[in-house]
Amino acid sequence: MSSQAPVKRVTVPDISKRKNKEPIVSLTAYHAHTARIIDPYVDFLLVGDSLGMVMHGFESTVPVPLDLMIMHGSAVVRGSQQALVVVDMPFGSYEESPQIAFRNASRVMKETGCGAIKLEGGTSMAETITYLTERGIPVMGHIGLTPQSVNMMGGFKTQGRDKSEWAALEKDAKAVSDAGAFSVVIEGVAELLAARITKKIEIPTIGIGASAACDGQILVLEDMLGLSPIVPKFVKKYGNLGSAIEEAVKSYAEEVKSRTFPGEENTYKMRSESPSPAKRATKKSKISGT
Ligand code: KIV
Repeated sequence: MSSQAPVKRVTVPDISKRKNKEPIVSLTAYHAHTARIIDPYVDFLLVGDSLGMVMHGFESTVPVPLDLMIMHGSAVVRGSQQALVVVDMPFGSYEESPQIAFRNASRVMKETGCGAIKLEGGTSMAETITYLTERGIPVMGHIGLTPQSVNMMGGFKTQGRDKSEWAALEKDAKAVSDAGAFSVVIEGVAELLAARITKKIEIPTIGIGASAACDGQILVLEDMLGLSPIVPKFVKKYGNLGSAIEEAVKSYAEEVKSRTFPGEENTYKMRSESPSPAKRATKKSKISGT
């Protein structure tokens, strides 16, 4: 029997309590191995629908199906043990009515084991957020640059850099908070507005391209690791995994071609053959000192 106490996952109320406190740390995660590595350092892992672009090469998040979110969501829950896991509702799975949103969000919760879902939209989604939260589904909002609306916006456009846009965005933030969301992602928003919203609403704001004024930060893992070919200005690269992968694969290709891989240490022998002739020779030279 293990004497180690089971690790307790971060809960939705734990995140809510972090308003105006120590900044909330979060990253996206799409698969079990990376979830396991980053889990100890983050408060929540977001299985973002950005996985459609990052993992599957779509040009936007619009084509992502619900079943794909469920597959990746369950992998991240299995790979992690302490962070809250939040799964994105993909485009078309929640906008039509609060009832349809509940049907799909409850599938996500049951089939992945995640602790909360995220959906995009402000005032237009307030009724749905209330419907879900009153029925046991914790909701993280997402306002500002909402990538699922890329076709309405005509591209991924920063929001709130003109004061004329502020009123609508502030209304969105308040609507999401009043509707019962436990926190809200603010994406691609000018610093002054992000700071104003953060001061005005009662739930923690999670910034991505929305300045250090927010209550927490999120980045797409592959962007900050230097794996994505193009990244927006707000991303800081904390690693250069793209070059590291290329170097490793180059060495592998060279060694396959020169037959230096697989080596003795990577090769299975017949039981009757062991120790291998090479090892026997090494043993002999060690004994004789040659
Ligand atoms: O899909 C995603 O990864 C997101 C984050 C960028 C917040 O929504």
